[in-house]
Amino acid sequence: MLFSNVLYTAVAVLPALVSAQLSGHVGPLTSSATKTAKKSCNVLNYGAKADKSTDLGPPLASAHAACKTGGTVVIPAGDYAMNTWVSLTGGSGWALQLDGIIYRKGTAGGNMIFIGSTSDVEVFSSTGKGAVQGNGYEIHAQGSRTGARILRMNKVTDFSVHDVILVDAPAFHFSMDTCTNGEVYNMAIRGGNWGGLDGIDVWSNNIWIHDVMVTNKDECVTVKSPSKNILIENIYCNWSGGCAIGSLSTGTDISSILYKNVYTWSSNQMMMIKSNGGSGSVSNVVFENFIGRGNAYSLNIDQYWSSQSVGDGNGVQLKNITFKNWKGTEANGSQRGPVRIICADGAPCTGITVSDFAMWTESGSSQWYACRSAYGNGACLKAGSGASYAAVTTTVKSAPTGYQAPTMKEDLQTAFGTTQSIPIPTMPASFYPGVAPVSRLAGR
Ligand SMILES: *[C@@H]1O[C@H](CO)[C@@H](O)[C@H](O)[C@H]1NC(C)=O
Ligand SMILES: *[C@@H]1O[C@H](CO)[C@@H](O)[C@H](O)[C@H]1NC(C)=O
Ligand SMILES: *[C@@H]1O[C@H](CO)[C@@H](O)[C@H](O)[C@H]1NC(C)=O
Repeated sequence: MLFSNVLYTAVAVLPALVSAQLSGHVGPLTSSATKTAKKSCNVLNYGAKADKSTDLGPPLASAHAACKTGGTVVIPAGDYAMNTWVSLTGGSGWALQLDGIIYRKGTAGGNMIFIGSTSDVEVFSSTGKGAVQGNGYEIHAQGSRTGARILRMNKVTDFSVHDVILVDAPAFHFSMDTCTNGEVYNMAIRGGNWGGLDGIDVWSNNIWIHDVMVTNKDECVTVKSPSKNILIENIYCNWSGGCAIGSLSTGTDISSILYKNVYTWSSNQMMMIKSNGGSGSVSNVVFENFIGRGNAYSLNIDQYWSSQSVGDGNGVQLKNITFKNWKGTEANGSQRGPVRIICADGAPCTGITVSDFAMWTESGSSQWYACRSAYGNGACLKAGSGASYAAVTTTVKSAPTGYQAPTMKEDLQTAFGTTQSIPIPTMPASFYPGVAPVSRLAGR
């Protein structure tokens, strides 16, 4: 590792937000204070006990039923066991204040907490210490990933999720699908060092995700289809799989996505767009201000992704996609070069721009860029547009000027593995070098 002991000062003045990626308001329509003033439903009054043994499931469902048409469900500080899962659906104008720690005890699949078909919702911790400990290692140590996701939101409009910590999910940590006008921020997610333990997956419309740290070995913050108007910023993939768009297949429909200020350390990639066959398109996407260190791949578009079966169609069309201001180093640039743009021969990429891109290898003294059926500007891209072409590789033998980038001094040095309990982290003070969180962290 070239920079493991060197802390570069953040000198770069980061470009201002280029475009308003969102379309209108995100977040709840009324404050949690207003909801609490209307009605408060404390789970302790519905049979819950902070004894780490009584099942929180039924009391949480009852408290929600009492407050879901306007009020705040409160899980006060303390340790709770969860043996059965809850489906919190319907209603509007409610909040879930999680200040305690929920320990998974049940072994069913599905979702520990499912929130669906509702609106004007806020899920938060007032102290920044509310957490769900999924204890996934108990299942992973048996070689299985069959357990529950921690949190799923489905068909929710005008909502936020913030200042909550999710740890060691048996399966995925947090997904949002078919949601509208959401804001997700100030979150720490820490899972096992294994595939299938995704951090945040989103396929939705008009969502702002910011100031999130993910440790795992699969998706960090990933956009799936269909999605539009998604702004993702200040993301710290602190030993992860890395961020991605995909996997994409038949009927892909993704547009107007901006990823900005993404710091990726010891991950599979900094950003991957992955598909195999399929149809539809991904358009109008910007990946701006990325810093990488110790990752296998960096910029990786793979439209022949072998971990996915081939979908019907000539390939997903990628168009008008910009990568700008990428800095840092990759683990081994002669093994896995920092630019890999492998587009579908049946649907060559157009309007791809790679600019202000300066990355260098941590081992050896050369790296490569590879392009196939890809058109645009920068790296090995062919200008204009046209027919498919076989992969062309450019070898780079000297370090590009200005590749050094600031590092986060608290980069995780050893993975958590999958066989031992994973400690609940505290929220980091910052999620990208030199950038303060957009909103104050709860409890600070
Ligand atoms: C390309 O994408 C950018 C960013 O989303 C957008 O501002 C621009 O209008 C798009 N250009 C075209 C020609 O669609
Ligand atoms: C880097 O990759 C090259 C090519 O695959 C390989 O020969 C070399 O051993 C690798 N270096 C390290 C330190 O793994
Ligand atoms: C990265 O993860 C490690 C291990 O969880 C943690 O000690 C460190 O504080 C994290 N970094 C930040 C900036 O939170």
